[in-house]
Amino acid sequence: MSREVHSMFAEIAGSYDRANSMLSLGVHHHWRRRTVTLSGAQPGDRVLDCATGTGDLAISFKKAVGKDGVVVGTDFCADMLAFAPAKATQKGLDIQWEVQDAMHLTYADDSFDIASIAFGIRNVDDPLTALRSMARVVRSGGRVMVLEFGRPLWWMKPFFTFYSRVVIPLVGGLVSGKRDAYEYLTRTSAAFPTGDEFLALMNESGMFRERRTVPLTGGIAYLYIGVVR
Ligand SMILES: C[S@@+](CC[C@H](N)C(=O)[O-])C[C@H]1O[C@@H](n2cnc3c(N)ncnc32)[C@H](O)[C@@H]1O
Repeated sequence: MSREVHSMFAEIAGSYDRANSMLSLGVHHHWRRRTVTLSGAQPGDRVLDCATGTGDLAISFKKAVGKDGVVVGTDFCADMLAFAPAKATQKGLDIQWEVQDAMHLTYADDSFDIASIAFGIRNVDDPLTALRSMARVVRSGGRVMVLEFGRPLWWMKPFFTFYSRVVIPLVGGLVSGKRDAYEYLTRTSAAFPTGDEFLALMNESGMFRERRTVPLTGGIAYLYIGVVR
């Protein structure tokens, strides 16, 4: 499956940011800010952003950790990552970018204070392996932050069902020319473990001493916070 996911993202890389802003109506910026705030990132911290894509979450983290902090943005798709350095440079931010598979990170144990993944865990072949891989490179007491789509809360459901089944494939298809990529997004989001189901997966990983979740925007997205053992 990862080969198909890789080529799908390589194909939509050039239109990814535009489609993202249109489809999320800008709300994704708020979700990323919440991720950084709830991570407790401090100036000087070392942060690893996995499946960083075009780099937006890594950029948000760099603003929080400042000049003395280190941020490494990684993705297994070089075509997505290719757009990240210019975005960071334009903002005067020094971030390292590396091609890495989130399931097989090559960094030493305890290399980071925080590891994050936004809208990426749903795409990896084995989320449990990715969680373990991310937690391994974070020091004890550090955090793993997972931001992902989920099943919306009851009051958001009618709106979001229509939006995700009709608007997302239509608009995403028009902007990217790849309607199937946006049908994939809707299909995989609806099927992915949400809330307590994902917390159970974090528990199963055996890597976290605390876990909690925060629904965002009526449960369209969820933030999962794990404190590493
Ligand atoms: C929906 S995009 C999210 C990008 C970015 N984090 C954001 O919030 O906009 C998903 C990203 O996951 C990456 N990805 C999927 N599987 C991966 C893996 N096993 N290791 C690293 N990156 C992966 C894809 O290449 C893609 O860039």
